[in-house]
Amino acid sequence: MGDLLPALLGLRPAGPSRDALARRLRGRVVVVTGASRGIGAEVARRFALVGARLVLLARDESALEAVASGIRRRGGSALVIAADLRDPDAAGAAGDRILTEAGTPELVVSNAGHSIRRRLLDYADRPHDVTRTIGVNYVGPVALLQALVPAMAQAGRGHIVSIGSTSIDIPAPGWSVYGASKTAFDAWLRAVAPELAEHGIAVTSIHLPLVRTAMSAPTYGASSPAMRPVDAAKLIARAVVERPRLVSPWWSRLAGGVLVAFPGLSDRALRAYDRMLERGSR
Ligand SMILES: NC(=O)c1ccc[n+]([C@@H]2O[C@H](COP(=O)([O-])OP(=O)(O)OC[C@H]3O[C@@H](n4cnc5c(N)ncnc54)[C@H](OP(=O)(O)O)[C@@H]3O)[C@@H](O)[C@H]2O)c1
Repeated sequence: MGDLLPALLGLRPAGPSRDALARRLRGRVVVVTGASRGIGAEVARRFALVGARLVLLARDESALEAVASGIRRRGGSALVIAADLRDPDAAGAAGDRILTEAGTPELVVSNAGHSIRRRLLDYADRPHDVTRTIGVNYVGPVALLQALVPAMAQAGRGHIVSIGSTSIDIPAPGWSVYGASKTAFDAWLRAVAPELAEHGIAVTSIHLPLVRTAMSAPTYGASSPAMRPVDAAKLIARAVVERPRLVSPWWSRLAGGVLVAFPGLSDRALRAYDRMLERGSR
């Protein structure tokens, strides 16, 4: 079932060939944010295997070191940078360190993220729910790229891959803070992508459905259809080789289009979707 699930969820399940990935990444600096666990750690290990020079960023330094030593044990290269992306100054400083200690990145996988499933009445007295989530999902990733992009533009090449979510297409109840923060970064990338193309930098947005990680564990039951981190890593690897502008399941794009085109239907449809998610989480 594991292998079939991405296809059932509307995504091409196969990763690229090892050679194709190596042609893109061997000897190149690759930054993966959120590399201390979950999808980011899986992506980092996969890219290190084809000879990429990894920069691993997250808050938990010892977890990053554990991923890095696994990579080094297999002959790979990994630099650890511990930083809290909720702090834009720390994100900018991390970008400066990457340029000084590793060099100009060929690829930045903007993957670090935080999700909250909480209804407005449950976070009405918790302004930090909004500021922290927007910090890690939008402000910090922008600050990191502000530090890195001038060097990438100077090199005239590079690729930015953003790990977004189907909640960008489908703004479900309970996910307002998370969905809005992921949408903010996605909208920012849509605006800068044509600017960056002029400097040889490609941008790919990936809208992932559910993936079984520490992030999704508290909100969904074991019966919910979810990809494995390895499946997500394969499709991220294929995006690195093929450089599409957007990777997302067909049903997510379709639902997103319908919700925008028929706003009257939207609330009713989203309430039904919400009830379905509630049943899945039990
Ligand atoms: N899992 C899903 O169902 C799903 C679905 C769609 C999209 N996504 C997206 O996929 C990406 C990876 O998620 P995941 O499922 O692998 O989650 P995860 O296992 O919780 O990993 C999140 C990563 O982000 C890092 N991170 C969190 N807050 C940070 C901060 N303030 N500063 C720096 N790094 C921070 C974490 O490391 P530290 O705690 O060490 O900082 C960790 O490495 C996220 O952007 C998420 O929105 C996930």
